[in-house]
Amino acid sequence: MKILVTGGLGFIGSHTVVELQNDGYEVVVVDNLSNASLDVLDGIENITGMRPFFEEFDLRDKAKVRLFFQKYTDIEGVIHFAASKAVGESVDEPLLYYENNLVSLINILQELKKRRKGSFIFSSSCTVYGQADEMPISEDAQVKPAESPYGNTKQVSEEIIRDTCKVCPMLNAIALRYFNPIGAHPSGKIGELPIGMPQNLVPFITQTGAGLRAQLSVFGNDYPTKDGTCIRDYIYVVDLARAHVVALLRLLEGKNDSDYEVFNLGTGKGSSVLEVIQSFERISGKKLNYEIIDRRAGDVVQAYANTTRANEILGWKAEHDIDYAIKTAWEWQTRML
Ligand code: WQD
Repeated sequence: MKILVTGGLGFIGSHTVVELQNDGYEVVVVDNLSNASLDVLDGIENITGMRPFFEEFDLRDKAKVRLFFQKYTDIEGVIHFAASKAVGESVDEPLLYYENNLVSLINILQELKKRRKGSFIFSSSCTVYGQADEMPISEDAQVKPAESPYGNTKQVSEEIIRDTCKVCPMLNAIALRYFNPIGAHPSGKIGELPIGMPQNLVPFITQTGAGLRAQLSVFGNDYPTKDGTCIRDYIYVVDLARAHVVALLRLLEGKNDSDYEVFNLGTGKGSSVLEVIQSFERISGKKLNYEIIDRRAGDVVQAYANTTRANEILGWKAEHDIDYAIKTAWEWQTRML
């Protein structure tokens, strides 16, 4: 039984491949290397002792997707990470995001529809909620108009999957809405590899701590929160990866309650930007150089998960706290120096 992991050399994808292999699955990774390097394949093999099958092509190429499924006829499940995911870039390049994120998804679903069966796990995001009205955020919270084309591609992708499952009795899917993934594998062999200036908070903190960046800019401290900075639910990447294996098994074993399910993946705990900085300083023993500047357009004030469905229905719970995740992120950063 093989599992296709698209975008399997990316940050979350690579950690999920490791967990799948640890659980005995044979994995086929498809990645176009637009935002990942082949070294990650070596990192995965170093950790698990098994090298996944690997195919390099762009999932927007319908013919190549068809050829792939003709070659790998024993794909039992798909975990779909492959997508562009930089919020800011999506505002400047909406068509690139709609084409890449939606056409890739449609090409895969069309192949699964042909085969009349499939277990499909989709990498979604809490960004679909926008600024939710109440905390913690539940799966039935209103999906708000997206704040960015990236967020809209996640919302539209979920609708495409939901509607496709309705007409394909044997196609079942789970959308996993991530909160903020952080950290690296404890082996130090894979982690987050932002290309260029990091968009996200934690890689920017570790690069600043390592002296690669002069200073962290904190985007506003005038929000209505405990210390004025935004609150997020930072989830350790290996805990997040485990959730994908649990969700896949749920579908493979036919334990899903409906043909399309949604689960929030978070710790259920909100941390402010300043608390993340304090965590880094505690873990690293270093003082972080940062300054407070203006708010960043599009930021929501707070977002942290109601984890009841994930804990009680999916049967998964985040096992690590933010200090552990920051520790792995810092170890990963210092190994790269
Ligand atoms: C976290 C907090 C910033 C950088 C995004 C996407 C989401 C998902 C995760 C893909 C915010 C503050 C950040 C910095 C800062 N990505 N910050 N200085 O925006 O919550 O979520 O990444 O799936 O879809 O929306 O994550 O790490 O960018 O920001 O002060 O240099 O850190 O204002 O409050 P975000 P983030």
